[in-house]
Amino acid sequence: MATSAIHAAAVTFRGDPFLQDPATCLVYEPDAMIVIDGGRIIDFGPAGVVGKRLPAGTEVVHYPDSIVSAGFIDTHIHYPQTQMVAAFGEQLLEWLNKYTFIAEQQFAEIEHARRVAGVFLRELLRGGTTTAVVYCTVHLQSVDAFFEESNRFNTRMIAGKVLMDRNAPPALLDTAESGYRDSAALIGRWHGRGRQHYCITPRFAPTSTEAQLEVCGILRKEHPDAYVQTHLCENLDEIDWVMSLFPDRKSYLDVYAHAGIVGDRSVYGHGIHLTEQDLALCHQTGAALAHCPTSNLFLGSGLFRLFDAKQSARPVRVGLGTDIGAGTSFCQLQTLNEAYKVAAMNGTRLNAIQAYYLATRGSAEALCLQDTIGTIAPGFDADLVVLDRKATPLLEFRSGFCNDIVEQLFVLMTLGDDRAVRATYVAGERVYYRDTGCEPFRYPATAAS
Ligand code: GUN
Ligand code: ZN
Repeated sequence: MATSAIHAAAVTFRGDPFLQDPATCLVYEPDAMIVIDGGRIIDFGPAGVVGKRLPAGTEVVHYPDSIVSAGFIDTHIHYPQTQMVAAFGEQLLEWLNKYTFIAEQQFAEIEHARRVAGVFLRELLRGGTTTAVVYCTVHLQSVDAFFEESNRFNTRMIAGKVLMDRNAPPALLDTAESGYRDSAALIGRWHGRGRQHYCITPRFAPTSTEAQLEVCGILRKEHPDAYVQTHLCENLDEIDWVMSLFPDRKSYLDVYAHAGIVGDRSVYGHGIHLTEQDLALCHQTGAALAHCPTSNLFLGSGLFRLFDAKQSARPVRVGLGTDIGAGTSFCQLQTLNEAYKVAAMNGTRLNAIQAYYLATRGSAEALCLQDTIGTIAPGFDADLVVLDRKATPLLEFRSGFCNDIVEQLFVLMTLGDDRAVRATYVAGERVYYRDTGCEPFRYPATAAS
């Protein structure tokens, strides 16, 4: 691949704006040049400086009225639920039975899985997301379909087969043994292939027996650089159910700790109703929480206490998640819009520096990928999103009244959505371009999608 460059304003972050003065964490370059070679950023700085040392023949793409950020990272999302997003009327446990478990049965068919994976990946890229932590279904082939599509786009994705051996329809159940066997086979097939990472994925404590959770702990020991994802303390009825299913455990999180699936590279969705002891355990072990505000509001699950989780005495790693299909937008701009409101309901204020950090570098830290993605700097993967300050008539009008970049970023996350994503770059390639006038994706849908 030849050297290329992007010329636009750019924002990125150093440090953690929940733990330090946010102003010191923002890196803002109003007239930046980002130079890319071999899928990575090789130079970044003021265009007047970097432009002078561009390798001869570098193709430069200029984006006026735009702000480039590291590609957004989504730390919690379910691709099979793309077909049932916006399902009316229920809270978590009824919603699972009435909608989710029905939809997920269709993924026994690999052609269906391929079709949905195609739609899903394009929706992520349209919203500026370049890495996601993804639940597939219990079917091994649902994982193959997803990684095949991700591999085609060369996106860095973290995904895995759901394990469930009880409390779900028979067609969605595996066993402790088959869950182990299928997960191990998928790890062998996909973990570390190109930019794909495997994630051991017990759905949540109520749908796994103790024996199956133990198997997940064994898989984690055998593959320490694989990820673990599950759900935790999302809904009060769910928590009561877990405590009745596991009466010997001190807390919901203790069920996972007992199985050996708490630690680095473990990502728990939600964590709304965690106790201080649980938060302290997350801090001590390096386990991460995925904050999913649109989902938590949509299902009426509760208000995640972000600033409590990030308390400087024992900060917990927190990433941002859409949790499609309980969440209602694929786009992290809209997710931040709702995160701001959830924080406000808790009597706190999520500023724009903290917000965009959460969607980029903070989520990379939650995934232990902070040296690879989530930041614009030499050596990092060239996964980037180009945001349009004037994407809609209202954004154009309101942006004209912004006094500084922090206000501009806040306006973009409050009023913006996928319309504000002008382009998305994956490993240096522009895989999505809104204004092309024809097919916006570099790889058009397959026959299946
Ligand atoms: N808990 C267990 N499964 C799910 C799921 O699919 N979505 C959400 N939001 N919570 C869950
Ligand atoms: Zn979820």
